[in-house]
Amino acid sequence: MRSCSSKVPRDAVHHPLFARFYARFSVAADVRGVVAHRRELLDGLSGRVIEIGAGNGLNFTHYPAAVSEVVALEPERTLRQLAFTAARHAEVPVDVVPGAAEALPVKSEAFDAAVASLVLCSVRDVPRALSEIKRVLRPGGELRFFEHGAAPGRPMATVQRALDRTVWPRVFGGCHTARDTLGAIEAAGFELGTYRRLCVPGKGPRLPTSFCVLGVARRPHEDAR
Ligand SMILES: C[S@@+](CC[C@H](N)C(=O)[O-])C[C@H]1O[C@@H](n2cnc3c(N)ncnc32)[C@H](O)[C@@H]1O
Repeated sequence: MRSCSSKVPRDAVHHPLFARFYARFSVAADVRGVVAHRRELLDGLSGRVIEIGAGNGLNFTHYPAAVSEVVALEPERTLRQLAFTAARHAEVPVDVVPGAAEALPVKSEAFDAAVASLVLCSVRDVPRALSEIKRVLRPGGELRFFEHGAAPGRPMATVQRALDRTVWPRVFGGCHTARDTLGAIEAAGFELGTYRRLCVPGKGPRLPTSFCVLGVARRPHEDAR
């Protein structure tokens, strides 16, 4: 009989099938052009960086040399294992750790920047996750984001909402297609900097996840928490 103490604690996120799918799909998507958006997302970063939901670690090789350390949080076990391997190929030190965005296991004001790429669609509690990101950034620290979200046109937005209520989150590891990420970032008290909207993929038919935004927001210098 197994004793209670031999039980392995459940991960905060447990999507083994999606993890295996994403490990292949994301590499193919990078080859088809997403890699350019990753580079743009990380361009010019320096100092200590926390990456939220790092997945299989496809951002790691694109961090600039001025980054002194990346703490890469990944709650899903299969993806975290792949991230460990990816970290070994990065040019900057990357420490892969378990944990969820809603309760970041790090000290307050410890980071110069936070990176969220294709992750705020999947976190369970977006306001809490953004409040945590703000907590761990120093005043003036940057949130770099590359996220998909709600479509501007009504027909696709209607499809997105229907998908979010039914199959999409179940099939795609908790992902939602219709979130208003920019609105959520502003509502969390960040100052929006420059950002641009883009479609991914850039050519061909639009998918429910095509409507992306890539940019930067800052934790205000005078931030009454
Ligand atoms: C679509 S993948 C994106 C992975 C990676 N950021 C990238 O750019 O390829 C979504 C990621 O969010 C992670 N995730 C899901 N819920 C999370 C949470 N509550 N906190 C942190 N990460 C989460 C998943 O495990 C997965 O790695």
